[in-house]
Amino acid sequence: MNAVELIDIKKSFDGGHEFVLNGLNLNIPKGSLTVIIGYSGTGKSVMLKHILGLLKPTSGQINVFSQNLWEMSDKDIMKMRTKIGVLFQHAALFDDQTVLENVCFPLIEHKRGVKLNLIKDIATKKLIVSGIEEKHFGKLPSELSGGMRKRVGLARALALDPEILIYDEPTTGLDPILTEMVDDLIHETHHREKGKVTSIVVSHDLMAAFRIGQHIVMLDKGKVLHSGTPKDFLESDIPLVRKFVEKGTKKKYGL
Ligand SMILES: Nc1ncnc2c1ncn2[C@@H]1O[C@H](COP(=O)(O)OP(=O)(O)OP(=O)(O)O)[C@@H](O)[C@H]1O
Ligand SMILES: [Mg+2]
Repeated sequence: MNAVELIDIKKSFDGGHEFVLNGLNLNIPKGSLTVIIGYSGTGKSVMLKHILGLLKPTSGQINVFSQNLWEMSDKDIMKMRTKIGVLFQHAALFDDQTVLENVCFPLIEHKRGVKLNLIKDIATKKLIVSGIEEKHFGKLPSELSGGMRKRVGLARALALDPEILIYDEPTTGLDPILTEMVDDLIHETHHREKGKVTSIVVSHDLMAAFRIGQHIVMLDKGKVLHSGTPKDFLESDIPLVRKFVEKGTKKKYGL
């Protein structure tokens, strides 16, 4: 079964003739960890926004758990959104809320009627599995390191027990050690509940894609250029894939 199906998606903004997504076809199998790579401006974030239902395609169809996203009622779309957890590049925490409040937020929003104590218990569990100790729960985001903010962002993304986890450039701008930590966290989170969670990670970092992804997809000009295992990528003779692979591996080893 596929968690997400993108069928011949085309997207232009403001009725223009330039297509940012230009006949994108992609299936994301349930339970897989897929890494999306590609040069800047090739439509990776726009694609994620389509999966989240935040952007409507100009044409084409998006199925999430076999349901056509744009034929769902508003109520069903809301319900579907609670099944998707997102971690953006800057973690997007609320600056004026503590660590614990940040993670309680989606629970208070979506689990109306549930007692605050129970909500705090759930948030506590998510923070602990994301590697935040209780002594940090009362701190504000500004009092945390970049790595800890990512962990809190992840805990918040996990709050509603999502079936799909989406990460958009989770490591861009982080130093190599933090990058590896966040990659490991993504990997661990994916494998903690075997087969239950579908993870979609957009990354610039090819080595990270090779390290964490079972399934790698490269976009170019709003389409899938290549998809396969790390081995398929290393052996590809598509010029743009080779270029990306050569650059990505050289950067890692400082050649
Ligand atoms: N709301 C919008 N209105 C108009 N154009 C947009 C909008 N959002 C994105 N675009 C354009 O769509 C193209 C793809 O953008 P997108 O953000 O998906 O790139 P990306 O692959 O995620 O790049 P990066 O790796 O730099 O994050 C860009 O040319 C961008 O300017
Ligand atoms: Mg992007």
